Amino acid sequence: MLIRNVGQLVTAPPGQAPLRGRALADIQVTRDAYILCDGGRIKSVGRTSDIPALPGETEELDVEGAAAVPGLVDCHTHAGFGGDRVDEFSLRAAGATYEELQACGGGILSTVQATRAAGADGIADALARHVAWFTRAGTTTFEAKSGYGLDREIELASLRATAAAGGVPTWLGGHAVPPEWDDADSYLDYALHEVLPEAATIAEAADIFVERGGFTIEQGRRYLSACAAHGLGLRLHGDQFEESGAIQLAIEVKARSIDHLEATGEDGVRQLAASDVVAVLLPASALFIGRPMPPARALADAGAAIALATDFNPGSAFCESLPLVCSLGATQLHLAPAEALVACTVNAAFVLGRAHRKGRLAPGYDADILVIDAPDWRYLSYHLGGDLIHTVVVGGEVAYSRQSLNRGDRP
Ligand code: NIG
Ligand code: FE
Repeated sequence: MLIRNVGQLVTAPPGQAPLRGRALADIQVTRDAYILCDGGRIKSVGRTSDIPALPGETEELDVEGAAAVPGLVDCHTHAGFGGDRVDEFSLRAAGATYEELQACGGGILSTVQATRAAGADGIADALARHVAWFTRAGTTTFEAKSGYGLDREIELASLRATAAAGGVPTWLGGHAVPPEWDDADSYLDYALHEVLPEAATIAEAADIFVERGGFTIEQGRRYLSACAAHGLGLRLHGDQFEESGAIQLAIEVKARSIDHLEATGEDGVRQLAASDVVAVLLPASALFIGRPMPPARALADAGAAIALATDFNPGSAFCESLPLVCSLGATQLHLAPAEALVACTVNAAFVLGRAHRKGRLAPGYDADILVIDAPDWRYLSYHLGGDLIHTVVVGGEVAYSRQSLNRGDRP
């Protein structure tokens, strides 16, 4: 397939990952460009004047001057859940806090109940619906965590459903202590002995919620070390509500990422910047539950590798839109549009161990492409909640295309 008439082709130059420091904003913009895809990969990109001679059967997609960026990569979601939390949301809107609801048995545990009731089929149905939302928002690669089963059957069903839906499964066995266990340590004994061996054959990484109301540093260390011994990549939810030493633990266990960081202070910023751990920032979650924003500008300026993700889940971030997250990146986190784009393409792909294949528009990379209907690609951050998605290409095939374009809204 030949995508022609691309007004701006935008990508980080091919090379290393993750990008940090000045390289975080170092993107290339090629005007009047084309993208040639073959066998699910990008074969070549360049100026329209340099389109190579093509066989007659080449399919053509004329995008009429729209901009093309790499398909977005959502490296942190909890997409496999049953039910919703709209009742809880309404209580929060009227003044209750996320932590209060969590403490009285709502929150994560209410979704655990709904997800167990939904069963394997219900989880697969929910994932199919959510993946369609992701695609329509421009996401071409997504991660999804388990963590709403917290028993062998439903945790494994959730991981399998994510893999079957084409996502990257992460075992979040350490999300909460389910009601049938009296204490976190006995639950972890069970999870590590009865669930981990099989979870490790499906999941690519493991994650744990190290936080007040979640798991302690010692429990996090025990869980993550056991998961590493089974070959899983390591991730942590940390510093969401308070600094508890999760950053030091992430560095100690050589985690790929630490995610949230709304409570991180100057020391944490310095430590992360000096490490190989990616800081995954989730501004939709901070906004949704009324928490302070993570110190993204300080992290970027100190040279930390940062990624942006939605945290899509029914409780703390019912938001599937990475373009909206890019807008929050600009307006709340003080990230330049280029930094936000790299954070949810190259660096997010790195967190998922896919930076060699995803996150850039260059020969050899997967043909995952987001075409945005705007005169300038920076509308991705600029157009807050805008309806920007023109065409989404996944593996060289059109996965979503807007039916009728209203060209009248172009300046
Ligand atoms: O990343 N804080 C822990 N986990 C999720 C929330 C999950 C939920 O509320 O259901 C998060 O915010
Ligand atoms: Fe999360």
